[in-house]
Amino acid sequence: MDIDTDGGLSRNLFGKDFKWGVSTAAYQIEGSHDIDEKGSSIWDVYTERKNKILNGHHGKIACDFYNRYPEDLDLVKQLNIPNFRFSTSWSRILPNGTGAVNQKGIDFYNRVIDKCLENGTDPWLTLYHWDLPHALEQKGGWTNRDVISWFSEFAVVCAKHFGDRVKNWIVMNEPMAFTGAGYFLGVHAPGRTGAKNFIPAVHHTVLSISEGGRILKDLLPDAEIGTTFSCSLVEPFNSYPRNIAAAHRIDALLNRMFIEPILGMGYPKDDLWFLKKTAKYFHPGDEDKMAFDFDFIGIQNYTREIVKSSFFTPYVQASLVKARKRNVPFTSMGWEVYPQSIYEMIKKFNAYKGIKKLYITENGASFDDVISKGEINDTKRTDYIRNILAQVLRARSEGLNVEGYFAWTLTDNFEWTEGYHPRFGLVYVDFDTQQRIIKSSGHWYANFLKG
Ligand code: BGC
Repeated sequence: MDIDTDGGLSRNLFGKDFKWGVSTAAYQIEGSHDIDEKGSSIWDVYTERKNKILNGHHGKIACDFYNRYPEDLDLVKQLNIPNFRFSTSWSRILPNGTGAVNQKGIDFYNRVIDKCLENGTDPWLTLYHWDLPHALEQKGGWTNRDVISWFSEFAVVCAKHFGDRVKNWIVMNEPMAFTGAGYFLGVHAPGRTGAKNFIPAVHHTVLSISEGGRILKDLLPDAEIGTTFSCSLVEPFNSYPRNIAAAHRIDALLNRMFIEPILGMGYPKDDLWFLKKTAKYFHPGDEDKMAFDFDFIGIQNYTREIVKSSFFTPYVQASLVKARKRNVPFTSMGWEVYPQSIYEMIKKFNAYKGIKKLYITENGASFDDVISKGEINDTKRTDYIRNILAQVLRARSEGLNVEGYFAWTLTDNFEWTEGYHPRFGLVYVDFDTQQRIIKSSGHWYANFLKG
C-alpha cells in the first residue's frame, strides 16, 4: 500500500485524538556535558575511548540544545507538532546518580517544560534514554541489583519536580538496545560484553522499568505512564526449517524478551535457553514485581530483519542478512526500507492481552542530505514517513490499537556509535555553525499536521 502522493493520506483520517509528535534524547542533543555541575554519564566516558565512535565523535556539544532549546522548541511549534518527547539526563539531575540533587539540572528541565507549555506543546518525558551516571557504572551499573533503588530515587526526584506539569511519562527507552549493545556486544556505553554482564543487566532493567512505573503512578495518579520497546519484523531468509527456527529465536530476542515479563508472562525462556540463567539473579517475589500495568506502551520500529541460521553465533545460532546483500532499498544506517514492518509490529503487539494503548514513540530514517541553494530536498525521507503513515492508517482501519506517531527526530543529532554521519532529523543541523534548516520532510510533516 505504498502511496506516492498525499492523496488519500491526511491527518483527519487518523482521528482527532491521535497523538502526533517528535522524539529526542538528552545525550544525542544537549551537549554542555560538564556545565552547571552536571556529572559524567557512561556516554561521556565511552566516547572518550579510542576507536569506539566513528570519526571520534562525541556529545560534548551535540546540537547545543542545552542553550538553544528555546529556538528548537519554537521549531517544534512552527512545524505544527503538538507533542515533544525528550529525556532527562540522570547525571545532570543527580551528578553522582544518587544523593545530592543538582538544582541547576532541575532548572534546565523546568525551563524546557515551561517553554513547551508556553508554546502550546505537550512535553513527554522519558526518564532514561541510555545515559547512566558514570558513578553508578563504577558500582556495577545495570549489573548491580542496587540499580533498582538508584533508579527509583531518580524517578521520585523527577516526579516531584516535573510532575505538576508533565502529563505523559516514559520510564525507559528501548531496554533491548542498551542492554544488548552496552552489556553484551560492548558497542555502546559502557562497553561491557558477555552473558555474565548481559543477563543481570536484563533482569535488573526489567525490575527497574516496572518499579519506575509503580513509582510514577503512585506519585502522579492522573498522569499517563508508559514505557517503550524497540521492535523489528523478523523473517527467515528462506523456508528451510533451520532458518525458520533461527528467525523464531531472533524474534524472541528482539521483540519479546522485555515486553513479556512486563506483561506478566515471564521471560520467553523456552525460545531463548540462555534466559534460564536469569534464575541466578531472581529474588523471591521477582516474578510478580516484573509486571506492571502501564497506561500505554510505545513501540519503536525502523526496519525488518532477515535471519539465517548460523552455527557459530553463540547463544542464538542465528545471524542477520544485511539489506546491502539483498538488493533492497536501505538507509544510510544500512537498514532496509520496508514500511510494512510497522504494520506487522502493530499487529504483533495488538495480539498481547493487556496493552491498553499503543503508540509509535519513534520511527524515522537516515539519508545523506544534500544542501542546494540553502535547501534540503530530502524526498526519500518524506516518502519513508508517508509510506509508514499509510501502514499505520491501514492498521487503524482494521481496528487495531495504535493511537499515536512520534517521528525520530527533530534535528540531526549524535547517532551513538555512528557519530554525526547519519542524519535522521526533520531539521538539518550544520554542526560547525549550529545553523538549523528545515528539510523538505519537515515542511511536509508541518503541512500534513496542519490538516
Ligand atoms: C533510539 C534512538 C536512535 C534511533 C536511531 C532508536 O533505537 O531510541 O536513540 O537514535 O533509534 O538509531
